[in-house]
Order: sequence, then structure tokens, then C-alpha cells
Amino acid sequence: SDSSNTLKGVASFPIGAAINPQLLASNALYKSALVKNYNSISTENCAKMNRLQPKAGQFNWTDTDALVNFARQNNMKVHGHTLIWHVAVPTWVTNFQGDSLAWEKLMKTHIQTVVGHYKGSIKSWDVVNEAFEADGSLRKSIWYQHLGADYIARCFQYAHEADPQALLFYNDNNSVYQTKKSDAVYAMLKNLKQRNIPINGVGLQMHITVNTSESILTNVIRQYASTGLLIHISELDIRMNYSLSTTFVLTDAVKNAHASKYKAIAKIYKGVVAKAQQFGITNWNLGDSDSWLLTESKSEDHPLLFDENYNRKLSFYGFMQGLTE
Ligand code: G3I
Repeated sequence: SDSSNTLKGVASFPIGAAINPQLLASNALYKSALVKNYNSISTENCAKMNRLQPKAGQFNWTDTDALVNFARQNNMKVHGHTLIWHVAVPTWVTNFQGDSLAWEKLMKTHIQTVVGHYKGSIKSWDVVNEAFEADGSLRKSIWYQHLGADYIARCFQYAHEADPQALLFYNDNNSVYQTKKSDAVYAMLKNLKQRNIPINGVGLQMHITVNTSESILTNVIRQYASTGLLIHISELDIRMNYSLSTTFVLTDAVKNAHASKYKAIAKIYKGVVAKAQQFGITNWNLGDSDSWLLTESKSEDHPLLFDENYNRKLSFYGFMQGLTE
């Protein structure tokens, strides 16, 4: 097929999508949109702790192994999401009773078993996800409560011990709107680097809307790029219906604004992030009907590049243009 007509064909860095192994196995249109356009897979849910270690010491590799095998057969890479988060924590962990040593062992064992299992096949990981609150304070998650503020640094050390070649990322959301949070994450990244903690990159989730200011986006991406770390736009989706209106109407004006925001993101990324730091851009899901945004709020939206039948939307072409120019 003509590579000038696909996302990965025109991009100068990897293009990823968050993938659901059940959909991949059951829907041929999903599979073909993925294989044609993407060269990277992020594990949407299957590599979260509740899925990989649903019971203490019992690991379920089936779904993530399937994605890894699929990626290998199709010349794609896999970005692992996510080792330590305050969501998708299995019940046995929520209920776990133990002193800080026992908690440390639990956390270390999870990280090292998972990273070790995928050593050489999952070459990059979101090690810690969303550790900060909007006000810039550290989230008082179970990890924080039992292990203290420096648990983040130790997560990176444990992951690095298990696979010294893996690229290790800190991933967070909404830093584009929240200055206090953005500054706190930035300060932590600099601190980790100063201490020689093995961190290679930062994931900017980029769950934005057609209304998000492009100059704010530019400034925040530039700020993070100044750390010298790899920059991953890790969960890109763009809400059309940003006010969650119950009377939303899908007009041509909205479609154009959506396409132009996708184009802008690609151009900002290329303009602000040095080539050597361009880890890639990942879409959070493929088709509009797969999006987490639809289950999150019941209001109408069409946040992605493909429609519910995996046809390319105007926004697909907008994004492709931004990647090309
Ligand atoms: O698979 C079960 C199904 O068996 C069950 O009947 C149903 C009833 O609740 O739940 C299904 O699991 C849901 C799963 O998505 C698969 O659809 C979970 O409840 C639901 O919590 C889960 O939501 C995911 C969410 O993270 C929480 O883990 C979304 O799909 C996923 O897109 C979202 O992704 C996050 C990133 O990991 C981190 N950044 C924000 C992003 C969006 O929230």
C-alpha cells in the first residue's frame, strides 16, 4: 500500500494507539486500521496491575502476550502502560495488611516480575502514572501512604534493574491546564535526573478539547522538552463536546475545529521537541465508539481519528497533514 497515505508513512517518529486485545481479535476493521497506520501499540488496560496480577503472586499474561506477539508479527513496538498507578489496583492490594517493608516487597515484586517477563519485547514502560494532584501536591495514594514520597524514584530503580535496556517514563494528565501540577511534575523530573534516577522520558497524556489553547500547549511541551527527556504524547484524544452539552450538534464547523486541533498538535510537537527527543504520539483508542470518554460521560462525542466503522474522518487527514508539513 502507498505509505504516503498512512499516518506511520508520513510521520518522522512512531505513531501509536491504545489497543484492546479483545477488539483486535474480533474486529477485522479495527485490526486493519491499526496495521495500516500505526507502528506502536500502547496497552490500554491489559497491562495494568488488576489485570496482570489479579491475585497475589498469580500473574495473567494472556492478553498482553497476545498484543506483544501481534506487534512482533506486524513490525510494531509495544509501550507498556502502566506499572504503578492509584487506579486499576487489584482488591488484594487494596486490602493488603503489612508494614512498609512488606509493601515495598509487593511493589518491587510486581514491577520486576512484569518488566522481567517482557524484557526485550516491551522496550518502554510508563513506570508511574498520575502521581500528582491538580494543586501540585503528591497524590495520597496507597503507594504514597505506605511507602512515602520517594516511592516514585524507587519504582524507576526497580524497573531499571529488571531490564536495563527499557526506556522508562513518568506519565501524567491534564498538566496542560493545571500550572501548579505542571510545575510540580517538572520539578520532580529535574530532581530525578539530578539524582541519576534511571528515567528516560515523560508522557504527556493530552486528553484535550477543541477549545484547548494552542499557545498553552506549546509552552507546556516546551517546558517539558527543556528537561532533555524523551517526550511522548501518550494518550491523545480531543473532545468536541467540551461543555458536555446534551444538545450537541455535529456541525461542519466542529469537524473542522477538531481536524485543525489534531493538525496543530502534530505541528507543535514537531516544532518544539528536538528530533532526538521525539518518542512519538499515541492516540488513546482508534474508533470513536471505543473511547473511554463515552463511558465516562454519557454526552455525545467523536474524539478520535476513525468513526465507529473505522473509516477515516476529516480529523485523520488533519492529523496526517500536521505530521507531513
Ligand atoms: O472489562 C470489564 C467488564 O468485564 C465489566 O463488565 C465492566 C463493568 O464495569 O468493566 C470492564 O472493565 C472496564 C475497562 O475499562 C474495560 O472497558 C473498567 O470498569 C474501566 O474502569 C476501565 O476503564 C479504563 C480506565 O483507564 C481505568 O483503568 C479505560 O478503558 C481506559 O481507557 C482508561 O485509560 C486511562 C489511562 O490508563 C490513564 N490515563 C487516563 C486514561 C483515561 O481514563
